[in-house]
Amino acid sequence: MLSDEEIVDNAIIVMKGGHDTSTILLTFLIRLLANDPSVHAAIVHEQEEIAKSKAYGELLTWDDLAKMKYTWGVAMETLRLTPPVFCNFRTTVKDFEYGGFLFPKGWQVVWAAFKTHMDETIFPDPSKFDPTRFKEQNPVPPHSFVAFGGGPRICPGYEFARIETLAVIHHLVTSFTWKLSSKHNPFSRDPMPVFKQVQATVNKVLFGLHFVVGQALNVGPDPGMS
Ligand code: HEM
Repeated sequence: MLSDEEIVDNAIIVMKGGHDTSTILLTFLIRLLANDPSVHAAIVHEQEEIAKSKAYGELLTWDDLAKMKYTWGVAMETLRLTPPVFCNFRTTVKDFEYGGFLFPKGWQVVWAAFKTHMDETIFPDPSKFDPTRFKEQNPVPPHSFVAFGGGPRICPGYEFARIETLAVIHHLVTSFTWKLSSKHNPFSRDPMPVFKQVQATVNKVLFGLHFVVGQALNVGPDPGMS
């Protein structure tokens, strides 16, 4: 039986894990689409093909989501370069050796998604933004794309995150255009990515209070990190 504290912990992890992560992904996608006209055009093309096949107000279906391959490839590549969950913890269940280091049983170890995602033996030219890495014919080896973690504790919200991301991007690009109002806006990790200068504006997006197109993301073309 779960204790009260465990019930509270589980409720908090669902709210926190389900909220900040997807909003960070959407934040970076909106920034990317404002900065990269070719990616924006390709996503608009894919989404308008789907929109054309639907009556006004008709809801998206599973089949529609399955057609959004390019859009999801862009989202995956965004998650690879800026994973919202920078790292997580595991406890070693037995002694093991890796890279010449001994990890004794019972130690808490950190795995960092960003490090794995920047490993050039897995993702050649890792700093390059390339959504084609995730095409079906280019399968990524297991536990190499770890934005959602891996193993028995892998993110249970993965499918939901995919659906909400694709649905938001669909409605956004088929209904609006937008531009960024700040030219220089680097981000840092704290430990999650944070746009320093626009915390208040980003918070509006994060908390779903306002979605002011053209103003929602006051971020610039510089992908530099501070
Ligand atoms: C882009 C969106 C998301 C990302 C990048 C993400 C990423 C992650 C990561 C890295 C973990 C840790 C996995 C591990 O340790 O192996 C995790 C766990 C978790 N996520 Fe997500 N997540 C996302 C969306 C969601 C959503 C939408 C929900 C719920 C509605 C959710 C609920 C959870 C929960 C409950 C856990 C804890 C699972 C456990 O400890 O067994 N996540 N997520």
